[in-house]
Amino acid sequence: MTFYKQTIKTVPLEGATVLLRADYNVPLKSDGSIADDFRIRASLPTVQYLLDNNCKVVIMSHLGRPEGNDPKLSLEPAALRLAELLSRQVYFVPETVGDRAKMAVKRAPKNSVVVLENLRFDEREEANDAEFAKQIAEASGARYFVQDGFGVVHRAHASTEAITHFLPSVAGLLLEREVSMLQGVMEAPKRPLVAVMGGAKVSDKIALVQRFIEVADTVIIGGAMANTFLSYKGHGVGKSKVEDNQKATLDAIYEAAAKKVGEENVDSFLILPTDVAVATEISPEAGRKVVPVDSVGAEDIALDVGDASIAAIEAKIENAATVIWNGTLGYAELPNFANGSAKLAEALATQPATVSIIGGGDTADFVQHWDPKEGASFTHVSTGGGASLELMSGEKLPGVESLLDAGGKVEYTEIKEA
Ligand code: ADP
Ligand code: 3PG
Ligand code: MG
Repeated sequence: MTFYKQTIKTVPLEGATVLLRADYNVPLKSDGSIADDFRIRASLPTVQYLLDNNCKVVIMSHLGRPEGNDPKLSLEPAALRLAELLSRQVYFVPETVGDRAKMAVKRAPKNSVVVLENLRFDEREEANDAEFAKQIAEASGARYFVQDGFGVVHRAHASTEAITHFLPSVAGLLLEREVSMLQGVMEAPKRPLVAVMGGAKVSDKIALVQRFIEVADTVIIGGAMANTFLSYKGHGVGKSKVEDNQKATLDAIYEAAAKKVGEENVDSFLILPTDVAVATEISPEAGRKVVPVDSVGAEDIALDVGDASIAAIEAKIENAATVIWNGTLGYAELPNFANGSAKLAEALATQPATVSIIGGGDTADFVQHWDPKEGASFTHVSTGGGASLELMSGEKLPGVESLLDAGGKVEYTEIKEA
């Protein structure tokens, strides 16, 4: 399946200045340093490809949700980390637009990497302001815009939508890979397709659960999400995290499932835990006690799937040709409740013939830390949270749709490089 948008490989960009949108919205530690550089590492193939093609690469991104200029959310640490990862100098420019930014980009040597300051220091970024986008294009002096910030393409912002009206706009390699993988697996999966959903809330992920009911051969529910399902089914869940007011949503989910597989097969198609690991407090010292789902005490908090549930999940995974996993199966921040997620990660990592697609910020984070190969044990670990949910739910993403269509003619004005 060829990608439906132009990419950096389909346009002639040798020697050009290129404006690259990355998603360097990385988690920070309390001292302000970078807690996890997954998204920066994921941008390297595109940056390297552009450098190999003698481009000057001007990178822009947001970080966090600042209100105005907030030095704690500067992109300078990300620029430094990028320099380390590339083993080359990176020029940081503490602005995004204006004459000083323009001069700084111009002064940077040919075939170098420049990182601009946090786009969201200017409120016009999130407002998808055309004038702001035009000013960024001018300051960068770019001949092309390359969208590679997969994590942010579900937003219509100046750097994802408006900018495409000012420069010929194509996809980077990460964006191409993410969209092809996530769309491909939803539209034409190798079967059987097993979807594993977990995490905090049903309401965050209803659209995806509904889509999985349509496309998957089995849907497994874990995490706090499972508590809401178990409570709906009449099980006591004690003091577990549950979401109220989900009856109508779950009625609709069960109705769709029954329509697809028949009433009598629903519970073997939409699989809930049969046992859970409970504790009476959420702490690293809390003991892990496994009980059947009909024996959760009034003071119990269900924090992980139980051993019988894990065994049932492993059996399903063993026969799967494709597994899509979104949402941890328990309170995986604490090792004593990360067992279900770890066992699932292990099952996937030791079954290389099975296509394994992992999405969701917390889930991606978990598998990367679990995996000695930092995620390479899986077919694809997505860098997108909201973007991957929306894409897999079948929605069109503004930052992708606005790029030039594959096969279309690329119009650009030849600019003589200084
Ligand atoms: P993702 O970011 O991968 O999409 P979510 O944000 O939906 O995943 O869910 C991850 C969060 O869900 C984690 O913070 C985890 O602690 C929490 N969680 C999972 N299972 C439970 C549970 N049984 N009780 C409380 N929290 C849970
Ligand atoms: C993300 O981390 O999901 C993206 O970088 C988008 O950030 P946002 O939710 O603040 O728009
Ligand atoms: Mg999350």
